[in-house]
Amino acid sequence: QKQGYDWFMRKEIFEQPRAVADTLLGRLNDRGELVLDEIRMSPETLRRINKIVIVACGTAFYAGLVAKYAIEHWTRIPCEVELASEFRYRDPIIDPMTLVVTISQSGETADTLMAIRHAREQGARVIAICNTNGATIPRESDAVIYTHAGPEIGVASTKGFTTQLIACYLLGLYLAQVRGMKYGDEIAALLQELERMPERMQDMLDAQQQILDLAEELKQEKSFLYLGRHVGYPMALEGALKLKEIAYLHAEGFAAGELKHGPIALVSEGLPMFIVVPPKGRDQLRDKVVSNISEVRARGARTIVLAEGCDDEARAAADVFIELPHVSTLLQPLVAILPLQLFACELATLQGHDVDQPRNLAKSVTVE
Ligand code: F6R
Repeated sequence: QKQGYDWFMRKEIFEQPRAVADTLLGRLNDRGELVLDEIRMSPETLRRINKIVIVACGTAFYAGLVAKYAIEHWTRIPCEVELASEFRYRDPIIDPMTLVVTISQSGETADTLMAIRHAREQGARVIAICNTNGATIPRESDAVIYTHAGPEIGVASTKGFTTQLIACYLLGLYLAQVRGMKYGDEIAALLQELERMPERMQDMLDAQQQILDLAEELKQEKSFLYLGRHVGYPMALEGALKLKEIAYLHAEGFAAGELKHGPIALVSEGLPMFIVVPPKGRDQLRDKVVSNISEVRARGARTIVLAEGCDDEARAAADVFIELPHVSTLLQPLVAILPLQLFACELATLQGHDVDQPRNLAKSVTVE
């Protein structure tokens, strides 16, 4: 039931702090180590893995893009991310030392299922990240990490996505732990930060009024661009996808560094552009994104900037400033995506669309 919300999607957006907390539950033992028993692979097997391939579709694919940044940084294992619909048809290089990770909220997506069948035929081990107990994908995988988002009814994925991010982070940190990576201190600090994340997410959601006002202000617009860099790039893609799916508007996400290689030609007077700025710790990257904001603003774009509260330069370059809490770069997606989800939900509502059942879309895509 919608529990007083107008849409399941909005309810599910607001459930995310709880969903993330549930997905994290019971992961730390009293020695401060990460527990991930359901992986069911011995430490020796996990130490022998020499490549990770993540396969997924849609929003789950974007969770996979974030996972690549995190897993490679923490484990130094090369990690590829591929759309499930492309994977099987290009003769991918996989063998028994490859770990294939599939991400699927429903666990029934045909493209993803076919990809794991193909991977297992080549001898790869498959771990599924899934939200649906006993679905086909987890049944056909060697192991499964369940997300504990609870049933996701809205067709556009929200809590499915943030809990997939949590599962990916846990997997990456676990692999780093098992492989004895030198980031021991960093791992412990990140685990503590993850535990505090539901609170940060709640703070973001409590500040929703600004996003509702923004949707009201922009409800006549027909085209939106989203920019991000590093893990902000998949956030730009996911923010744009949400708007396409439920508001049927032209929305495109770009890597901010690609701007001058083409997309900047699209920037015109008044064009709304969401820009996700990395936290201040990653100085070079952040500086570059901040100068991108000035570049597009000089060409007339209306800049909606998501950045840390202490980022005065980003604030100065913003027409609208959406404050993000101070978190580690790799974890920023958990807070940055919330206003983008809420904006899409509100804009579609203002336009009178059926947010939970967007036209032409089904909750699980069981044909290739
Ligand atoms: C977007 C969305 C889709 C799904 C995709 C994969 O909001 O819902 O893009 O993410 O169809 O679905 P699952 O995760 O069930 O495999």
